[in-house]
Amino acid sequence: MIAADSEQVGVIERIAGPVVQASNMLGSKLYDVARVGKEKLVGEIIRLIGDVATIQVYENTEGLMPGEPVFLTHAPLSVELGPGLMRQIFDGIQRPLPVIMQESGDFITRGIEIPGLDHKKLWDFKPSVKEGDMVVGGDILGEIPETPTVDFKLMVPPNVKGKIEFIAKRGDYTIDETAATLITPVGSKVDLKFYHEWPVRQPRPIQSRLPSTVPLITGQRIFDTIAPIAKGGTGAIPGGFGTGKTVSQHQLAKWSDAKIVVYVGCGERGNEMTDVLREFPKLVDPYTGGPLMDRTVLIANTSNMPVAAREASVYTGITLAEFFRDMGYDVAMMADSTSRWAEAMREISGRLEEMPGEESFPAYLSSRVAQYYERAGRVLTIGSQPREASISVVGAVSPPGGDFSEPVTQNTLRIVKVFWALSKELASRRHFPAIDYLLSYTLYWSALEKYYAENVSPEFPQLRAEALALLQKDKELQDIVALVGPDALPPSEKIVLETARMIKEDFLQQNAFHETDSFCSLEKQYLMLKTILRFNEKANELYRRGESVVDIFEHDIVTRVARMKYIERSDVEKSLNELMKEIDGMTIVRMEDAQ
Ligand SMILES: Nc1ncnc2c1ncn2[C@@H]1O[C@H](COP(=O)(O)OP(=O)(O)OP(=O)(O)O)[C@@H](O)[C@H]1O
Ligand SMILES: [Mg+2]
Repeated sequence: MIAADSEQVGVIERIAGPVVQASNMLGSKLYDVARVGKEKLVGEIIRLIGDVATIQVYENTEGLMPGEPVFLTHAPLSVELGPGLMRQIFDGIQRPLPVIMQESGDFITRGIEIPGLDHKKLWDFKPSVKEGDMVVGGDILGEIPETPTVDFKLMVPPNVKGKIEFIAKRGDYTIDETAATLITPVGSKVDLKFYHEWPVRQPRPIQSRLPSTVPLITGQRIFDTIAPIAKGGTGAIPGGFGTGKTVSQHQLAKWSDAKIVVYVGCGERGNEMTDVLREFPKLVDPYTGGPLMDRTVLIANTSNMPVAAREASVYTGITLAEFFRDMGYDVAMMADSTSRWAEAMREISGRLEEMPGEESFPAYLSSRVAQYYERAGRVLTIGSQPREASISVVGAVSPPGGDFSEPVTQNTLRIVKVFWALSKELASRRHFPAIDYLLSYTLYWSALEKYYAENVSPEFPQLRAEALALLQKDKELQDIVALVGPDALPPSEKIVLETARMIKEDFLQQNAFHETDSFCSLEKQYLMLKTILRFNEKANELYRRGESVVDIFEHDIVTRVARMKYIERSDVEKSLNELMKEIDGMTIVRMEDAQ
């Protein structure tokens, strides 16, 4: 919410794009919201020297003139946290886009005053505490069935505690009504509404951090099997133009087994965001069968929207994510792309005439990137009955020219624990997802291994290690083949090449747009990998018995292996176990034998 009741003090002195300088600003604080000009554009004070404030403005500053007034709000940039966030599409400062469009058409009217939440809607509240109970920040006062899949939990805001003097009875309420009244330890009364505000740049408190021992299941084989991310983990997807950042992020948003998804479209082309807006509402949640939007919040800040709002959108997104985490949910947040966010920082820093760092990015780029990803994590929430919950964060990075040595990629890689490197070369060969399986890595594997062994199969870690070893060996052999040709290789190494090809084509390649293949359960990933490696074993055995590598890999079972990915979920176990049996009994029938 951007405080509306503001008093005039300042006067605009200078305007440089999204950055405005105003004098006579005594009484304001750093990071307070200011309303700039006659139209009361929304801005944030980012520098204060004496009575001169520098304000970054979240709206188009065209036409703004020196001498116009600046109004103070005495409140930091905050979001409204309450029921009604699910299914919403917000701009970078939590203004609901559909409402803005309705009120002002495609071109957002400036200075428009729209709260983040719907203050008129009635919500069905069911209390879970009674009068006389003692509660602290984070405690749950009751629930609201927000969507068929998400129960909104009304929490005592952090930093508030006391004895419940009044709690609203079961019934329908707007968010402005009083949900509870507390008597604090010092005897004062605090009325709690069905929402509270929280400054976006301030992480919400937690009780403690927990180890990351559970994977965020994504249904994408390259992620889950090769380089998994933990629930509460951090990951980056850097990739040059058109290599598949957005498709990868969409896949994560669609298929991750997080209870809540926060998707920030940050500075990408308007049409990419339009795709999201058009596509997401149609999608079905594979875990619940309901609409995917029931568990999703979208934040859209496309390249044609003001640059400062883009800088803020990432904080707005992570604050919403923290709010759902505090309810006890596993949240996944995607940002596409953090490079555009960094570029917004660079532009504003440039206007402030700050000392530039590498490639003109501000010197504080690395600390901002770190602060953002640090808000991820698996935690024990605050409250007298702490809940285990998590925020997993995945950021796309768009390095100019696909060069990973540039500052945003480098600063991100220093922080995140999963690196999913998109490869131009794979994308140009239409190997999708074009994630470089050798360059990519996860630092979570040792913490997640046990989960896979216990929940998927005790063999899983071994199969994964074998697949990785084969891919590594394949790379070495490919280098030799490039020099001397494939004929120079002994048959046992040709088997390595053929099996690695199977792993790459039949396992790692996964078509995001194929109805069945778009999502692959862990169970199916395991069985597919096991089948390929079983074939590898059989191939070696047949070769030792004198069969030729060409005959072995021309067997029609090979085509059936290639079609494994299209097997429907319900048939997977039966079909793949059958296929493995056939592999075990496989023989080579030559033309002359058959005659
Ligand atoms: N997993 C996938 N399955 C099928 N096709 C894919 C997959 N990933 C990427 N593609 C193909 O690559 C194209 C480009 O992908 P995408 O738009 O995600 O790239 P990007 O890196 O976001 O590009 P930009 O730099 O323009 O933002 C897609 O339109 C699609 O055709
Ligand atoms: Mg993209």
